[in-house]
Amino acid sequence: MLGRLNHVALAVPDLAAASAHYRDALGARVSEPQPLPEHGVTVAFVDVGNTKIELLEPLGDNSTILPFLQKNPSGGMHHVCYEVDDIAAARDHLKAQGARVLGDGEPRIGAHGKPVLFLHPKDFFGTLVELEQV
Ligand code: CO
Repeated sequence: MLGRLNHVALAVPDLAAASAHYRDALGARVSEPQPLPEHGVTVAFVDVGNTKIELLEPLGDNSTILPFLQKNPSGGMHHVCYEVDDIAAARDHLKAQGARVLGDGEPRIGAHGKPVLFLHPKDFFGTLVELEQV
């Protein structure tokens, strides 16, 4: 069921500053910022060859990133994203295993235009897990 690591997401307080730092300090290629109002974030992706780093900045007053940044003001690792072939089958399997799927359990379209779901961090050793159908 589990495919490759699609990305690791970092919550950052200032996306422009974080993008510039990855470009200037690390020589990284960073995408243009992409607002995703339905997810409450603006994202930019750092291409690191074997995977991507997703930089997340809160968008709107109800962003789920805001409480995270209140606890981690300088930013921090927010989630990991694994690829799956069939997100509905993966969800059903995980629910049968007792894992909690966030929201209404229906996949939403994520930053890559593909269906995504999030799994409760308490069911995965303190790490929020995103699944993306590829
Ligand atoms: Co993500």
